[in-house]
Amino acid sequence: MVFRPERFLGKHYAADEWFPFGGGNRMCLGMAFAMYEMKVVLSTLFSKVLLTRPSGCQSAPVRRGIALAPHDGAIMSVAKKLS
Ligand code: HEM
Repeated sequence: MVFRPERFLGKHYAADEWFPFGGGNRMCLGMAFAMYEMKVVLSTLFSKVLLTRPSGCQSAPVRRGIALAPHDGAIMSVAKKLS
């Protein structure tokens, strides 16, 4: 199994297809704020640091409830970007 985040590029999902925020009448009220906040936080972070996987690290996906997650918690190396 391979993580391919690019599969989301260029796609638009209806509100009830975007699973992390639930759906229906009790859907997350903070969804728009959370998405905006995530873009601000991640773009600020990735403009300052470079995240890489240490060589030899291979995460096998394991089941966590109804979702899949990396078995090792996704160990990453953080390096300050040169400006
Ligand atoms: C990544 C961030 C977040 C995720 C993944 C998330 C996810 C969820 C999920 C799964 C539910 C339950 C939906 C359902 O039962 O169908 C929920 C409900 C809710 N969320 Fe969030 N949430 C996030 C951030 C926020 C933020 C930032 C706020 C407020 C500022 C917020 C406010 C609420 C409220 C008020 C409900 C209850 C809605 C209701 O029961 O009618 N959430 N959220």
